[in-house]
Amino acid sequence: MTLISDNPLRDPRDSRLPRIAGPCAMVIFGVTGDLATKKVMPAIYDLANRGLLPPNFALVGMARRDWEDQDFAQIVHDAVKKHSRTKFTEEVWAQLSEGIRFVAGDLGDDAAFDKLAQVLGKLDRERGTGGNHAFYFSIPPRFFPVVVNQLKRSGLSKTEGDAWSRVVIEKPFGHDLESAQALNRTVDEVFNPGSVFRIDHYLGKETVQNLMAVRFANNLFEPIWKANYVDHVQITMAEDIGIGSRAGYYDGIGAARDVIQNHLLQAMALTAMEEPVNFDAESVRREKEKVLSAVVIPKDLSAHTARGQYAAGWQGGIKVPGYLEEDGIPKDSTTETFAAIRVNVETRRWAGVPFYLRTGKRLGRRVTEIAVVFKRAPHLPFTQTSVEELSQNAIVLRVQPDEGMTVRFGSKVPGTQMQVRDVTMDFQYGDSFTQSSPEAYERLILDVLLGDAPLFPRHEEVERSWEILDPILDHWAEQGQPDQYRSGGWGPKSSYDMMANDGRQWRRP
Ligand code: BG6
Repeated sequence: MTLISDNPLRDPRDSRLPRIAGPCAMVIFGVTGDLATKKVMPAIYDLANRGLLPPNFALVGMARRDWEDQDFAQIVHDAVKKHSRTKFTEEVWAQLSEGIRFVAGDLGDDAAFDKLAQVLGKLDRERGTGGNHAFYFSIPPRFFPVVVNQLKRSGLSKTEGDAWSRVVIEKPFGHDLESAQALNRTVDEVFNPGSVFRIDHYLGKETVQNLMAVRFANNLFEPIWKANYVDHVQITMAEDIGIGSRAGYYDGIGAARDVIQNHLLQAMALTAMEEPVNFDAESVRREKEKVLSAVVIPKDLSAHTARGQYAAGWQGGIKVPGYLEEDGIPKDSTTETFAAIRVNVETRRWAGVPFYLRTGKRLGRRVTEIAVVFKRAPHLPFTQTSVEELSQNAIVLRVQPDEGMTVRFGSKVPGTQMQVRDVTMDFQYGDSFTQSSPEAYERLILDVLLGDAPLFPRHEEVERSWEILDPILDHWAEQGQPDQYRSGGWGPKSSYDMMANDGRQWRRP
């Protein structure tokens, strides 16, 4: 199997060439869901608008609705108008909407999948989509095996000649190691590994990919990116929102499964990995996997992990309910909405350097960042008062919302005294580039259509991430109710304690 690997990071000359998908159709299962409406359908329009989809592209929706093609087209239209990143234009929409089809039916229904096969066959003949089909699973995980088996039964997983059939699987990929393994087995029985795209939308973010550019395109950072100089790394993904209308998805899953198992462990792997030989899927995934395999969790999980549930309170002048008062949440739910863990990466490069990962809902503000915090200089030839306001040097990759990078270091305060204080040097995307960053889903959907997979975690990475998390989740399950924390704050006391136990502090992003 050959993967087309024209990732622009690999060869700078390639980056001038637009990567345009060839003839194909994308089928979305779960078109009535939030993700399809807010992210997937708008991203498809944005790609069309940027000229990155072929003119004969087809989009097929499947759901249990009594809709005709034009009803579904209206749904896509409304979603696109409301949520797409780029400007809505009638010409682009007219072209895209010509290829929109709908198949009514239940995911377990043989007849519906036979109909889907007919519709795709007709599109191949009439629009020239070439037998190339991507199947997007924007559905609850319990349906993943059902759809995989239906694709097999209806012959849609089979291809002829150069045609391809790919599946795009949304998280959560399993609930623990065992269920992830079972799911991987089901998918691998039907699709070869190169046709399975497990989406982790954080890897589609420009700023997360920039981590690879910053580390491996420069000579400035890599020499100090190691235990000799780095004291610890903090990766934070904080959200100010609560769970909103996602009670059905979130309860029983919680912050660690929702975010740490995928986004944060992947961000950590990119931060810690060795230089890949190139940026093709195999090489990048191999390096990330090595990091995940070297992860060791602390023995004393009570001291080095924390979890919490948001309590009712005031946020931005608005009264907000606590997690247990949210619609659809059982009053005795033990699901955590905040999770923090410490892990170590036992390699020569990272021996003794803790990686702290934290995430939570209803925190002080929405911010995601990766902060590499350095050791103090081995010797400071100043009086103690001169360096009172000097903390540790840090390189902070600001993933969102204020995309960029900050370097913190000490500088002399102007005046006759030798007084040293922290200052920052900033790189802001907005100041350096005129073009705005594509949405993560644009990049990832295009990669699926191109068969380019370096930004998709593979089977082994997903399982290894569960292996890391499972003992922590088991430990928490034995503890009963999580600590409550104030909405609008920065998490439960146990989170501060876990850092204090190591003589460190969380950054206030
Ligand atoms: C998703 C989680 O993966 O990421 C959500 O399931 C979370 O709970 C979302 O809100 C945040 O994504 P972003 O791109 O807004 O940081």
